[in-house]
Amino acid sequence: MKTKIFIALILCFILTIKGYSQQQPAVTMNNFITSLMKKMTLDEKIGQLNLLTPGGGIATGAVVSSDVETKISKGQVGGLFGVIGEEKIRQAQEIAVTKSRLKIPLLFGSDVIHGYKTTFPIPLALSCSWDMLMIERSARIAATEATADGLNWAFSPMVDIARDPRWGRVAEGAGEDPYLGSQIAKAMVMGYQGNGLGNDNTLMSCVKHFALYGAVEGGREYNTVDMSRVKMYNYYLPPYKAAVEAGTGSVMSSFNTIDNIPATGNKWLLTDLLRKQWGFKGFVVSDYTAVNEMTEHGMGDLQTVSALALNAGLDMDMVGEGFLTTLKKSLQEGKVTRKQIDDACQRILEAKYKLGLFTDPYRYCNVERLAREVLSADKRTAAREFAEHSFVLLKNKDQLLPLKKSGTIALIGPLANDKSNMLGTWAVSGNSDLSIPVLEGMKNVSGNSVNILYAKGANISDDTSFAKKVNVFGTRIDIDKRSPKEMMDEALGIANRSDVIVAVIGEASEMTGESSSRSQINIPASQLTLLKELKKTGKPLVLVIMSGRPLTINWETENANAVLFTWHAGDEAGNAIADVLFGNYDPSGKLTISFPRSVGQIPVYYNHLNTGRPNPGDDFNKFHSNYLDVENSPLFPFGYGLSYTSFQYGDLKLSSTTLKTTGTIRASITVTNTGNYDGEEVVQLYLRDMVASIARPVKELKGFQKIFLKKGESKLVSFTIGIEDLKFYNAALKYVTEPGDFKLFVGGNSQEVKEGSFKLVN
Ligand code: NOJ
Repeated sequence: MKTKIFIALILCFILTIKGYSQQQPAVTMNNFITSLMKKMTLDEKIGQLNLLTPGGGIATGAVVSSDVETKISKGQVGGLFGVIGEEKIRQAQEIAVTKSRLKIPLLFGSDVIHGYKTTFPIPLALSCSWDMLMIERSARIAATEATADGLNWAFSPMVDIARDPRWGRVAEGAGEDPYLGSQIAKAMVMGYQGNGLGNDNTLMSCVKHFALYGAVEGGREYNTVDMSRVKMYNYYLPPYKAAVEAGTGSVMSSFNTIDNIPATGNKWLLTDLLRKQWGFKGFVVSDYTAVNEMTEHGMGDLQTVSALALNAGLDMDMVGEGFLTTLKKSLQEGKVTRKQIDDACQRILEAKYKLGLFTDPYRYCNVERLAREVLSADKRTAAREFAEHSFVLLKNKDQLLPLKKSGTIALIGPLANDKSNMLGTWAVSGNSDLSIPVLEGMKNVSGNSVNILYAKGANISDDTSFAKKVNVFGTRIDIDKRSPKEMMDEALGIANRSDVIVAVIGEASEMTGESSSRSQINIPASQLTLLKELKKTGKPLVLVIMSGRPLTINWETENANAVLFTWHAGDEAGNAIADVLFGNYDPSGKLTISFPRSVGQIPVYYNHLNTGRPNPGDDFNKFHSNYLDVENSPLFPFGYGLSYTSFQYGDLKLSSTTLKTTGTIRASITVTNTGNYDGEEVVQLYLRDMVASIARPVKELKGFQKIFLKKGESKLVSFTIGIEDLKFYNAALKYVTEPGDFKLFVGGNSQEVKEGSFKLVN
């Protein structure tokens, strides 16, 4: 007996060393799924490809699924989304695993976008922290809460590169840069999925929207996209690729066209690129009724577009039921193959297997964890920390901020004492009643030492028809019963009695997000009128601007003494804003998307190509590439953000001015905190390829480090540059480097940089 145990142990040891322990689960999974699929009818297989929403959550299209219970019992549903709460999810799962013939459990998805019940700042805000560990932690916490409440699949991260702030969904992404966007995509996938899908507190991520959705023409929602392959490969595709490399379990196809073919039916995109070139092994789900919408794109009737989608490589059909109702017919007519249906079904079953649903379909419904995890105090603390790190200080004339914790502050503005807009867009599971408005936060943080006077001062907008469009999910723009004049008089009354005015203004949360494009991205007229009157009082004016997108805030930044851009900051908005205003936290956020001076400049982004007639500086020069009526430069560039302290950059030193293709060089710079506060700085590294076979951008982010420096402290920051940092997709879409001259820039934003140069040699 002893000998047998000994031999078994030795065998185990050898197999482990040879990596068999890794392969074993895959073999088991394959066997399990093969034998399950042998039992499945064609209808049951097609059923797995069907994703429904029974309503109750947010419907983002015209249809909501019907007869969902019956369909689950008949094995016609692979997963649900928009079912909120452990109890409801448990009930739905029970139908699947007790009433359907083969008892296949369901996937439960949701738009877990920036937190779950505990709501964090919107993704664009989080990206401004440039803190990958923090961003990963935000996804980790969201996964912990969501999985305790029954969910196993998050429709996140949204990694669409966006250069057009008219598009409302810039709020959901990480801004304009492919390098930073890729780092964030990876951090989010790792945060959601952890070390794998087997744990009950991790969920499967779904990277979206594949692909190029951020480049819709005119910034108009759901619009078409047209783009060269070189542009795609170099700027728009890298974050999706990074998410795939990080192991995302699923991908969501986008609504837009690519090369005139909708992404959802685009074989080049879903099969050649995603599966063959990138090696993606998970499944692809469509966006909400995106299969059906291909009919509007002019691709044919429901049967035709459903076959097109399956042929292209789509595995799961969200809400539209084109797969459910037409694939069988298409198979009979030879328009799709049995193998295609099998492959799609297999990928979905594999995801369920990896999530452990065949072992325990209720593993994500855990009332004990639910009670412990959801909205726990540590998550609120994290929400406050994340928010503080996301704010970007755009101006601070004469060091007006931080405010003294004494005297009288007039806190004015439609967003100063508002709960309904704090969470931001896509907070489907959040509860705005739990959010902290700025007034409450200011009182919490300043205690009794400051006299805070409050007045609303203006409506977010006075335009009732605009308000109606914004208020679809509940009142976000609350038009006061008082007249604008009455509100203004009250505000001016308190302003005149105060030492400083803090005006909290900006966008309502649903002025950004899905289906919220704007052709003007300014502060609405009602609020600007208020600001102009406040300015006339001559009191120092601090602006706290909440928004889901960059805004054209020329007058505002010119005329205010200080501007803190807080985005929509989540549950702890008020406390975090007060922490920063009163100096408990020194702001460190840096913009991840450029702020235009006017809508006419859009797209304005830092990593643009040079023209043949570049404008030297911002003044008008005849026969150069510029405008008669506005400068070329943005109002605030990518990477920009101030601190209460100041940072000085020393000389940039390169370990060599020659880089061999097999080697590396080091760029080092000493950064010193020369101000009066401890603070964090994001040190950014940019490169420029001076001569190449295709035109290359004037600058590209290739590295960054967020460092903490005590007042008076210096640190040597070093970046290692190797061949990988110099690669790009050439005209033949080969990922190459080309020998020659490069410039290298290091600084605290994309424009104020120290410069060096080196040569790449073979
Ligand atoms: C449509 C949105 O485009 C997508 O981001 C979201 O995940 C789905 N609706 C599901 O709510």
